[in-house]
Amino acid sequence: MARREYAASLDVGTSKVAMVIGVPTHDGGVDIIGVGTSPAAGMRRGVVVDIDATVQAITGACEKAERMAGVKVKSVYVGAGGPHMTTTNNRGMVAVSRADREITEDDVNRVMEAARVLNVPTDREIVHILPRQFIVDGYDGVKDPVGMVGVRLEVEALIVTGAAASLQNLLRCVYRAGLQVDELVLSSLAAGEAVLHPAERELGVMLVDMGAGTTQVALYAQGSLWQAAVVPLGGGHITNDIAVGLRTPVHQAEAIKVANGRAQGSAGDDDVLLGVPGTAGGSQRQVSRRTLNTIIEARAQEIMELVAQQLRSLGYPQALPAGAVLTGGSSVLTGMVELAEACLEMPARTGFPVLSGGLDDIARDPALATGVGLVMRALQQRGPDASGPWDRGRPGSLWARLVGWVRDLT
Ligand SMILES: Nc1ncnc2c1ncn2[C@@H]1O[C@H](COP(=O)(O)OP(=O)(O)OP(=O)(O)O)[C@@H](O)[C@H]1O
Ligand SMILES: [Mg+2]
Repeated sequence: MARREYAASLDVGTSKVAMVIGVPTHDGGVDIIGVGTSPAAGMRRGVVVDIDATVQAITGACEKAERMAGVKVKSVYVGAGGPHMTTTNNRGMVAVSRADREITEDDVNRVMEAARVLNVPTDREIVHILPRQFIVDGYDGVKDPVGMVGVRLEVEALIVTGAAASLQNLLRCVYRAGLQVDELVLSSLAAGEAVLHPAERELGVMLVDMGAGTTQVALYAQGSLWQAAVVPLGGGHITNDIAVGLRTPVHQAEAIKVANGRAQGSAGDDDVLLGVPGTAGGSQRQVSRRTLNTIIEARAQEIMELVAQQLRSLGYPQALPAGAVLTGGSSVLTGMVELAEACLEMPARTGFPVLSGGLDDIARDPALATGVGLVMRALQQRGPDASGPWDRGRPGSLWARLVGWVRDLT
C-alpha cells in the first residue's frame, strides 16, 4: 500500500485534539495507520476560546500521529461541532434540460444549486448541502436520479450552517499549526460514517456522540442524514459535578468517574467506600459509591432527557427502528446504554468505529469516532466513484471562502 494514498483528519474536541491517519484497503475499508491525541486546553463546549492553546494541542496531536504513521501530513479534514452548528431544510426545483428528458449530472448540480438559495444571516456559513431525497415528476424517495427520465427534478436538502466566527477561529488554529484544510465536516456526520452500519442508516437510527463539552445528535433515515442538533452538555459537566459534590480536584474527579462511575442503577453501592482526596491535599475521605453515582446519574439523566427533547423537536415523524447508537468518550460510562434505552424508549448500543485492520485496537475507541469517520469520508471522496462536496470550486461557497480566509491569514 503506497503511503501517499493516506488521508488525515483533525477532531478538535472539548477535551482532546485527535489526529487520525488512514489508508484505503483493497476491499473498500479503511486501515488506520496513525493516531495522535493531545489534551485540548483552549476549547469550551466544542468552540475555540484560546487560539494559542488550541494550536499547541493540534501540533502535539499531529506530531504523534505523524510519528506513528511515518508520514508528513499537509492537509486535513476537520470536524466542526459545537452548539452553533444547526440544520434547516430547503427544496430546489429545476426543469430537466435534455430534449430526450434524461436526467444528467448537470441537472443534479443545478438542482443542488437551487436548494442553496436560502436566506442565511451574514454571521453564518453554509457548511453542507446534503440531499435527503430527489423527487422526479412528483415521485419521491429517489436516491440517484442520473439516468432516469423526467420533466421536473426536485431535491429535498438538509442545509447545515455554523457561526462564521467560530468556524474561522477553528480554521485559524489549523492553519497556524501549519496544516491546510481539505474540508470542514459536521462532526456528527463524520462520527456516523465511522460507527453506523448502512442498514441502520437506511432503517432510521439516532446517533448520539457523547463528548466532554457537547452531546451531538444526528438522525439518519433512508440512508441520509435527516436532522442534527447539539446539546451543550457532556462528560466534562459530570466530572465538574463530582468535583464540586465530593470537594475534590477536577483531575481526581475524572479518575474516580472513569474507575467507579455508573450512569444508572446505583442500588447496592452503599457498602462500597471510595477514598476521595480533598482539594487542599491532606488525607482522603471515605465516600460511598452510591453518593458518587447519585451525582453522576442526575447529570447523565439531564443530558439524556435533553437528547430525548431534541429527538421530539427535530420532528422526525416515524419511529427509528434501528434505535440509538451512542458514541464519543462518555458513551462508555457504565449504564449509559441502559439509561439511553429508558429515556429515549428505543434500543441502544455503543458505537465503535468499524475498521478492517491496521491499528484497529487503538482506533476502535468511541472517542475517536469523529476522527476515524473524517478519514473514511476523505478516502471516499478520493475514491474511483467520488463525487466530492457539492460546494467545491463554486464561487460564494464555503470552499471558496475557505480559500479566502487562508489568503487573509497568510
Ligand atoms: N471510561 C470512561 N468512563 C466514563 N467517561 C469517560 C471514559 N473515558 C472517557 N470518558 C469521558 O469522555 C469525555 C471525552 O469524550 P470525547 O473525547 O469524545 O470528547 P471531545 O470530543 O473532546 O469533546 P466534545 O465532542 O464535547 O467537543 C470526557 O468527559 C471523559 O471524562
Ligand atoms: Mg467530540
